[in-house]
Amino acid sequence: MSRLVVVSNRVALPGQSMAGGLAVALQAALRERGGLWFGWNGKSVRGPGGNLEQQDEGNIRYATVDLSRADLDAYYNGFSNRTLWPLLHFRLDLVDYDRATREGYRRVNAMFADRLAPMLREDDTVWVHDYHLIPLAALLRERGIGCRIGFFLHVPMPSADLLMAMPDHQRLFSGLYAYDLLGFQTRRDNDRFQSYVRLYGGGEVVGKDLLQAPGGRRFRTGVFPISIDTAHIASQAAAAVNKPAVRGLRTSLEDRLLAIGVDRLDYSKGLPERFHGFERYLQRHPDQKGSLTYLQLAPVSRGEVNEYQMLRNHLEQIAGHINGAHAEPNWTPLRYVNRNFPHATLTGFYRSARVGLVTPLRDGMNLVAKEYVASQDPENPGVLVLSLLAGAADELREALLVNPHDLDGVADAIASAAAMPLARRKERWHAMMEHLRKHDINAWRKDYLSALESA
Ligand code: G6P
Repeated sequence: MSRLVVVSNRVALPGQSMAGGLAVALQAALRERGGLWFGWNGKSVRGPGGNLEQQDEGNIRYATVDLSRADLDAYYNGFSNRTLWPLLHFRLDLVDYDRATREGYRRVNAMFADRLAPMLREDDTVWVHDYHLIPLAALLRERGIGCRIGFFLHVPMPSADLLMAMPDHQRLFSGLYAYDLLGFQTRRDNDRFQSYVRLYGGGEVVGKDLLQAPGGRRFRTGVFPISIDTAHIASQAAAAVNKPAVRGLRTSLEDRLLAIGVDRLDYSKGLPERFHGFERYLQRHPDQKGSLTYLQLAPVSRGEVNEYQMLRNHLEQIAGHINGAHAEPNWTPLRYVNRNFPHATLTGFYRSARVGLVTPLRDGMNLVAKEYVASQDPENPGVLVLSLLAGAADELREALLVNPHDLDGVADAIASAAAMPLARRKERWHAMMEHLRKHDINAWRKDYLSALESA
C-alpha cells in the first residue's frame, strides 16, 4: 500500500479537541498506511506567511503552514467563502466575485503546492479535500508531480448554468481535470458536474463516470456519500446522558419534549426559515402548545464575513420576535444558543431530543442528520425531520422529509414527529440505523481510496 497524503484547508493536529468524525477517519487511514497531513495551521501572521511547521505522531507527519493576513482575507474569507461557498450552494445572489480575491486564492494554492511538492514521493496517494483547494492538483502537476491525486468535494456541486455564471469559470473548474478521481456526495452532484464538463467545460463524457479533458487526459468521477462513526456515536450517546450538561438540559425541560437543531451559523442551513417554520408550528398546532421546546445551537462561523454577520443579526431578531409573541412566564419556546459544545455532549443532547431538525436550504451531506439518528435510544428513538435539499436525504429515506421553503410543511412535520407513536418511531429508526451501520465513515474512506487506487 502506498503512503497516504491528505491535504485539506484545516488540519486536525494531534491533541486538538473538538475533532469531528472526518478527522478521526482520516487519521485512521493515515495510521494504517503511514502518511502526511498537510494544510493551513489556522493562524494568520504579520509577515509574508507560508512558514512551514512539522510535527510527528507515530507514523503520521503533520505539516502545516500559516497565512499572511492579506492571503487569509483573499483566499479564505474572500474567494473560498464569499465566492465559491455561495456559488456551490446555489446562491448566485450572494456571490461576490473579485479578481483580487481570485488571485489570492490561486496564490495560496500555489504556495501550498510549493511547500508540498518537495515532500511528495513518486508512489504516494494524495487525497485533497474540498472547495478551498480546487487548483491544487494542476499546480502540483506543473511542479512535476505525477503520482495519483484524488479530490473529494464535501459541498454540493450546483447546476452547470450556475457554474458558468461565474466569470472565468473555465480556468477554475478545468483545474479539476488534473485529478485522477473526483468524488461527490450524491449521484446528482456527480451528474451535474458531468453536464458542466460537457456543456461549458470543453471536455467530454467518454464512458460511465469516465471523462476526458480538452487535451485528451482522462479522469474518473464517483459518488461517495460521507458518513459518521456510527458504532462509536451510538455508544458515546448512551454514555453521555449522565454528563452534567445533558442532565441539566433534561431537568430544565420539566416534562416537555425537546426538538433540537445543531448547525454552524451559516445561511446554507436555512435557520431563518426553520425559526419561521417553528413559529408556524406554534400557530397551526395550538393543541401541542407548551408541550415541546426547541433548542437551536448555532456556533458562530466565519464571523469575519459580512453575510454571516448579517445572518446573526437577523436570527437574533426573529428569535426575539418568536419568544416575545409565544413565551409564557414559565416557558420559552425557542432557546437559541451560539456556543459550541464538545462532541460527546452533543450526542447526549441528540439522544434527549424527540425531534431532530435538519432543514438546510442546501447541504452537501449534513452529518448532524446522521449523528442524530445514531445517537438515539433504540427503545425510545426520536424522529428526524430532514430537508430534501440535503445530500443525507438520498439515504435517510425514513426521516420525515420536508421542503425547507414550505413553512406549513415544516410545521406539520414537527407536529407529526412530536406525536408519532413508539412503534412507528422504532420502525423508521431501525431502517435508518441499519443503513448507517453498514455505510459508516470507515466504509466511506475505504471505498474512496480503493476507487482512487484503481483509477
Ligand atoms: C463545511 C466545509 C468544510 C469546512 C467546514 C467548517 O463543512 O465543507 O470544508 O471546514 O464547513 O467551516 P470552516 O470555514 O470553519 O472551516
